[in-house]
Amino acid sequence: MGQTSHAKALQHPIFKTVSKAASNLGLDAYVIGGFVRDFILERGHPKDIDIVCVGSGISLAKEVSKLLPEKPSVSVFKNYGTAMLKTGTIELEFVGARKESYQQDSRNPEVENGSLEDDQNRRDFTINALALSLEKDSFGMLLDPFNGVEDLKQKTIRTPKDPDITYSDDPLRMMRAIRFATQLDFIIEKDSLEAITRNAHRINIISKERIVDELHKILACQKPSKGFSLLHKTTLLPLILPELVALQGIDEKEGQRHKDNFWHTLEVVDNIAKTTDDLWLRWAALLHDIGKAPTKRFDKKIGWTFHAHEFVGSKMVYTLFKRLKMPLNEKMKFVQKMVLMSSRPIVLASEVTDSAVRRLVFDAGDSVEDLMTLCEADITTKNPVKFKMYHHNFKRVRAKIIEVEKRDSIRNFQPPVSGQEIMKTFGLSPCREIGQIKDAIKEAILEGDIPNEYEAAKAYMIEKGAKLGLKTIV
Ligand code: CTP
Repeated sequence: MGQTSHAKALQHPIFKTVSKAASNLGLDAYVIGGFVRDFILERGHPKDIDIVCVGSGISLAKEVSKLLPEKPSVSVFKNYGTAMLKTGTIELEFVGARKESYQQDSRNPEVENGSLEDDQNRRDFTINALALSLEKDSFGMLLDPFNGVEDLKQKTIRTPKDPDITYSDDPLRMMRAIRFATQLDFIIEKDSLEAITRNAHRINIISKERIVDELHKILACQKPSKGFSLLHKTTLLPLILPELVALQGIDEKEGQRHKDNFWHTLEVVDNIAKTTDDLWLRWAALLHDIGKAPTKRFDKKIGWTFHAHEFVGSKMVYTLFKRLKMPLNEKMKFVQKMVLMSSRPIVLASEVTDSAVRRLVFDAGDSVEDLMTLCEADITTKNPVKFKMYHHNFKRVRAKIIEVEKRDSIRNFQPPVSGQEIMKTFGLSPCREIGQIKDAIKEAILEGDIPNEYEAAKAYMIEKGAKLGLKTIV
């Protein structure tokens, strides 16, 4: 067992308070888990701190609250034997050390009290089982029974127990292993990786919310492709996102091949991770090509086609979000919109006309910059000449968007002449012609035939009305 002292990690006064509370109750208490791991990795001081004590975690939480001047309220989770309190920006979670045994069909364990070592042994990874003593005489002493520090040095994810037991006990840990490997740029040691593959099917007992939470965390990483390749390699991906796996592979017919859209997608996600932290834009990058699997056809004349894959893909976004119990709100609509419009700027890049840019801004509204970011990330060609040319063209599109925007304020377009005014001008009651005139005005503005201004639109309305045989009455 390591004898290193890490008292430096425990400089915040809260640790002395917990230490005092534990001593008042005659308990041994320790800081454990992510806080210790991240301190040693110099990843800053996390605000969530896990405390384990040999005894009742709930009693310890209550005693800590008593000692704090603001007497924070303690949330007790009796079923889990845990308690939580907040002080300042810090969230402390208390648990009594325990031994656990799991059932086949549930990730809720049967629990009995145990020693610190029992508790460390039931944790997911050696790097998460590190504990620092809060006992007065050994304050800051590192307790590392499974060589977690060595695994931190070797950048390795390893389970304290036989990995088959750790992953089968709580299959969410398979996703956590992959998420930590991606976040920390660690490797998952071989036995663990094999055990994940063997136990992949058990992911089915995990709630969708928790799976999605891990997917969010993987997507938020610097290089999300690492996580998705691991999900793929361990066969977890087809159980979670079969739509992505369906993109894998290259077909060849009559000497014509298409690109592997799965690996292409992962490249796009890595690209976009360099330019945006927006989680939902990253989701859009992940899903932008999912319509390509069901729409793939071979045409003798034109080769491989993915006709209307953007439309099909945007519909699939809804099904996928629903299946994974993700929010079916404006976030989903944003992802759908990005998928639906994902090819629009590409068409534009070859010929940047004012009217096409106006239409793009009209359709994308406030999401137009995000759409450009997605399309730039979509450039994965290995041909340096093409790479440069595409980026250059998109730069021109971006410049044109700014130019057109300044002149025509098309974003969040409001018709300069209302339906009411059309009715009043021609003395109409509600009828089809009103819609026709409104559409004609909108079209004329988008085409650049008239400016996006009231006087011009009014004149155009009268002209259009006359063509439809209407007479002005005011
Ligand atoms: N833990 C575990 N198995 C899980 C979840 C958590 O053994 N399925 C243990 C680990 O020891 C972990 C601790 O509980 O360190 C706290 O869990 P959590 O707060 O989810 O993770 P952190 O390690 O603190 O890391 P992060 O906040 O980055 O998720």
